Amino acid sequence: MIMLFITLEGGEGAGKTTQMMNMAEMFFEPKKLPWVITREPGGTEIGKQIRQILKSTNNTVLAPEAELFLFLADRTQHIKQIITPALNRGDIVICDRYLDSTFAYQGVARNLKVDLAGLHQLFDVPIPDITFLLDLPIGLGLSRAWHQIINGKRDYTQARFENEKFSFHENLRRGYLRLAKQEPHRFCVIDAKQSEEKVWRDIQKILNTFF
Ligand code: TYD
Repeated sequence: MIMLFITLEGGEGAGKTTQMMNMAEMFFEPKKLPWVITREPGGTEIGKQIRQILKSTNNTVLAPEAELFLFLADRTQHIKQIITPALNRGDIVICDRYLDSTFAYQGVARNLKVDLAGLHQLFDVPIPDITFLLDLPIGLGLSRAWHQIINGKRDYTQARFENEKFSFHENLRRGYLRLAKQEPHRFCVIDAKQSEEKVWRDIQKILNTFF
């Protein structure tokens, strides 16, 4: 039985969702391997309610510490209800954002001085086998994200993170790249300023080394 847990990470406008669909439909499906795609926040019904609070542009007063605990609440529920059962069944789990988002967004970009690794020990956290970090310059990522908002493909009422300052996004990118350096065996850094097709080819090359 193959047990594989894949996560996708990156800043705004990196194109994670497209690549997640590619992996499922163009790589695992033709191989007849069972897969599950999911995301954080919002991978469960309870998580969807939490996601609403976290993403709402109106929630400007949400305290960084409260934000952190909402992400952790979403994650605990998601692990218990979706991720662990799927891995135990032998499904390949592909998750759009996971614990590295918390390290990069809350730990580095929000600069919260809390023991995030310690907090994650409160519950059983499956560690991904592969984490694709879709890395791209901040200006490009934000302009892609805002383009989607203007075209109605992203909802402005849900843009609390897209609305953050440029320096927030710069710190975020730096945080992600540092995480990738710390765990080179797990992280694959992909140049996401390339075309969608080229990004997909790079991801496929890495997946081919596993299958
Ligand atoms: P989402 O629309 O899923 O983001 P994207 O389409 O950019 O992947 O919104 C999730 C937002 O929550 C995103 O801006 C990143 C942020 N986030 C955190 O700050 N910490 C976390 O632990 C997670 C999972 C997400």
